[in-house]
Amino acid sequence: MKIALFASGSGSNAENIIACFRARHDVQLIEFPLIVSNKADAFVHERARKLGVPSFTFGKADFDNGAVLRLLQQYGIDGIVLAGFLLKVPDTLLQAFPDRIINIHPALLPKFGGKGMYGSHVHEAVVANHETESGITIHSVNEHYDEGAIIFQARCPVLPTDTADDVAAKVHALEYAHFPEVIAQFFEKK
Ligand code: GRF
Repeated sequence: MKIALFASGSGSNAENIIACFRARHDVQLIEFPLIVSNKADAFVHERARKLGVPSFTFGKADFDNGAVLRLLQQYGIDGIVLAGFLLKVPDTLLQAFPDRIINIHPALLPKFGGKGMYGSHVHEAVVANHETESGITIHSVNEHYDEGAIIFQARCPVLPTDTADDVAAKVHALEYAHFPEVIAQFFEKK
């Protein structure tokens, strides 16, 4: 299976996923032939260059008008993993990849999801709400933000002294530890 990685920012998850699959010899059926972004200056492009993986930037209109879909078809892509991708996935892509798009959200959905809940905003809200735990949610993507079926969750404690940055670090550690394996299991079943 060929999976496209979509990322809008740093891309540390995208890099970790590619590195993990390169290091594993038991899941050779899954490849990541390209990275797609909506930000030309995102650090994910630098990571892609170092990894030797082509990366592309498209404007919002190109996600909607079929330009991104045409590129994915040229690459023979079978599914999409959103790893810190901040645009809403348009219907054109949802229809082209039914139940083959997954996202990682840096909190325990259904809490702290929806519009505006991304990046540091999520961790700030978790701290402001005096939560005692947070974590990650990996879910399939449908037409509503953060509302697709939950595939996997993992939890971490949030201490009263934790800052949003502390929570972000714990959540990132969970992402690196679990996302590659969840991707392997999800797409191997397809
Ligand atoms: C991750 O925390 C992910 O859960 C969220 O955005 C962040 C992306 O981080 N959706 P990175 O770009 O992979 O470093």
